[in-house]
Amino acid sequence: MTTTSSLITTLAREELIDMIPYQSARRLFATGNSEQANQKIWLNANEAPGKGKYLVSSENINRYPDFQPDNLLNAYEEYSGLKRSQILATRGADEGIELIIRSFCKAYQDSILICPPTYGMYAISAQNHGAGIVAVPLNHEHTLDINGLTAQVGKVNVVFLCSPGNPTGNLLPKEQIIQAIELFKNSAIVVVDEAYIEFSPQHTCTNLLNSYDNVIVLRTLSKAFALAGLRCGFTLANEAIITLLSKVIAPYPISAPVAEIASNALSNNLKAMTERVQNCNDIKAQFLAWLSKQSWCNQVFNSDANFVLFRCSDNTEKTRIFNLLVEQDILIRDQSKQLQLENCLRITIGSEQEITQLKEVLS
Ligand SMILES: Cc1ncc(COP(=O)(O)O)c(C=O)c1O
Repeated sequence: MTTTSSLITTLAREELIDMIPYQSARRLFATGNSEQANQKIWLNANEAPGKGKYLVSSENINRYPDFQPDNLLNAYEEYSGLKRSQILATRGADEGIELIIRSFCKAYQDSILICPPTYGMYAISAQNHGAGIVAVPLNHEHTLDINGLTAQVGKVNVVFLCSPGNPTGNLLPKEQIIQAIELFKNSAIVVVDEAYIEFSPQHTCTNLLNSYDNVIVLRTLSKAFALAGLRCGFTLANEAIITLLSKVIAPYPISAPVAEIASNALSNNLKAMTERVQNCNDIKAQFLAWLSKQSWCNQVFNSDANFVLFRCSDNTEKTRIFNLLVEQDILIRDQSKQLQLENCLRITIGSEQEITQLKEVLS
């Protein structure tokens, strides 16, 4: 065994030995068996509350699925208003992130740019691939530092913007997104990650796909569509980019049951999604108002997504609140290690009942 592990250590890419994988909500708190999982209130991964019921046919399960299943692509074309040639279905938006980095960054040579505090998978995917990471932090209002971005023009190949941002929650001003796209229009791809856009749909950047060659928009069914367990996302871009990414993605990325459930959710169940969003936004508004009145809460950040970020008065309060909730089987996310987010916690807007329970514990 010792020989094997030393063999693996010798053979493995050196930088992976000490690399810490993405600490997803599920890695930090595994669901375990379903009975245990059902006893907990999961407000740590920005998932939607409520269980879905989908029937799948297994008739053609002996066959490989299409590379991009027709039913799914047609449904997303209709939903997004884009052309089919502008859409690539992936295993979650996470796979889109990985494909973009692998397609546009030469390992150990090129870099991506991130604007922390931001979604952790951009950096993890870059590290995995051997791409460099340049950070231009958001400013204190959680908007872009345009001067900071300007200084990096020509030095990076992919720029990741997240709008609405995770864990910040706010939309980036559209003028700033356009400024960034203009800045990098001859030198880098600008990715606008819209994982949470259904909570503020009028602010989508998909209309920019027709005006600029260097834009990619990422989407997912994991949030507003309540299908995180399905693993289905979409990379939206011009045809040349989609053709390139299609060379890098696995040959059968979307399994037949995934395509069936996802296309059903996108075509027959859109009303359920919009009602879920409305309900979430209502609960969020009330919860934000409640939070801002709590003595232990120092700052509440604006949220255009399905979660709320807030700052506790100090580290002791932050730890007390987090642990108090864990003791009651309510799981939220500690964001205090992120840049600029000292003493900050993030709570997913769950069902009305879940948020009421959480408020009772904290009151
Ligand atoms: C900003 C952002 N992008 C992408 C993802 C990944 O989404 P998916 O579940 O589709 O891989 C997440 C998940 O939390 C996210 O917050």
